[in-house]
Amino acid sequence: MLLIKNIGKLATPLGNTVHCGEKQREIKVFTDASVLISDDGKILEITEKGNMPSCPSDIETIDAEGMLVTPGLVDAHTHLVFGGWRDHEVPLKISGASYLEILNAGGGILNTLRATREASADELFDRSAEFLSEMMNLGVTTVEAKSGYGLDFENEIKQLEVIRRLDRETPLDVVSTFLGAHAIPSEFAGNPDGYIDYLIDKVLPVVAERKLADFCDVFVEDTIFTAEHARKLLLAAQRLGMPSKIHADEINAIGGSELAGEIGAVSAEHLLSTVDSGIESLAKAKTVACLLPCTSLYLDKPFARARDMINAGVPVAIATDFNPGSCPSLNIQLAMNMGYIRYRMYPEEILTAVTLNAACALGMGDRIGTAEKGKQADFVIWNAKDLSMLCYRMGSNQAKTVIKKGKIYETR
Ligand code: NIG
Ligand code: FE
Repeated sequence: MLLIKNIGKLATPLGNTVHCGEKQREIKVFTDASVLISDDGKILEITEKGNMPSCPSDIETIDAEGMLVTPGLVDAHTHLVFGGWRDHEVPLKISGASYLEILNAGGGILNTLRATREASADELFDRSAEFLSEMMNLGVTTVEAKSGYGLDFENEIKQLEVIRRLDRETPLDVVSTFLGAHAIPSEFAGNPDGYIDYLIDKVLPVVAERKLADFCDVFVEDTIFTAEHARKLLLAAQRLGMPSKIHADEINAIGGSELAGEIGAVSAEHLLSTVDSGIESLAKAKTVACLLPCTSLYLDKPFARARDMINAGVPVAIATDFNPGSCPSLNIQLAMNMGYIRYRMYPEEILTAVTLNAACALGMGDRIGTAEKGKQADFVIWNAKDLSMLCYRMGSNQAKTVIKKGKIYETR
């Protein structure tokens, strides 16, 4: 057993399902609180107002020293497993080349594809495990990781196997998403239809059979995949038991968010250029809008219409999008800060966005994302006393101690 005592404020949303509209801002704050955790890493009891749980006096105890505690953060959108970096492309951007121009000239994602194909599974594992440890140091306890830099049978499977191994062999929970439709590999240049059919006929059945992915995602974008390509692939994946996610409206709004609502996708992600019809579709289906503000910053593009989405009743999550092109940052605290200043979300809404709503975007709302009896004991003790301080500081790591499944990890 573990006891976390002397918590100044324990702030958490409550429940197992998405919070949207005004509810996204509803946070329970236990003051002067303690949390008792079982040996198998579950929350046994939460007490407040100075009351202590009834437990033996000699159990392991950690003193939160009056600081803020929240549920462990959930980064629901990353491209964690990749070879190489793309630092050499930044000067191209500075001289005026756009993200899609670099990609369509064989760079961008296709550059990372070459480095990822060349890397061994062990190399990819070691590097990604390092990234995960950096993320945990920042307060993250659950991470989604997408494939999408292999773009052929062998290398997509290699990436997915690495993601499964990261889940098994690191302290974090790692959720796997098949993003075979991330770009069109040179083998299928000019033939996106053929590539989608290849994914459906040759790759998806093996991914499903070997249970290598929890979700299927598609990059719906001008000159990449249309909403019709996505519909075909995502419905095939749904039939094989993989719910849908969509990279939608990242640069151009070409129907990705509308499709997400229509086919009941769990989440639509990016949404930088979403128009009203997309917001309506997401609100109706209660599809989570997984917003990635650091990508707006890095691509120098508009910030998503988070306030309009919340007002329309769309559940909003915030994540990093960590990848070597559009967001080389894995700092979710920076994303929270951007959510505060650029999305104009309130600190309570931001907490829900990186805990419960993010957990629901990964189908894990019944296990993680809130501090409640019976849920997994994932917590962060912060070097801050309240949520507004947590969202206000920019660029520093405010995580003090991370608790994952009841085990303590001191941050660096
Ligand atoms: O989410 N847009 C597609 N995928 C990533 C970028 C991947 C890359 O550039 O390597 C994104 O921004
Ligand atoms: Fe992405």
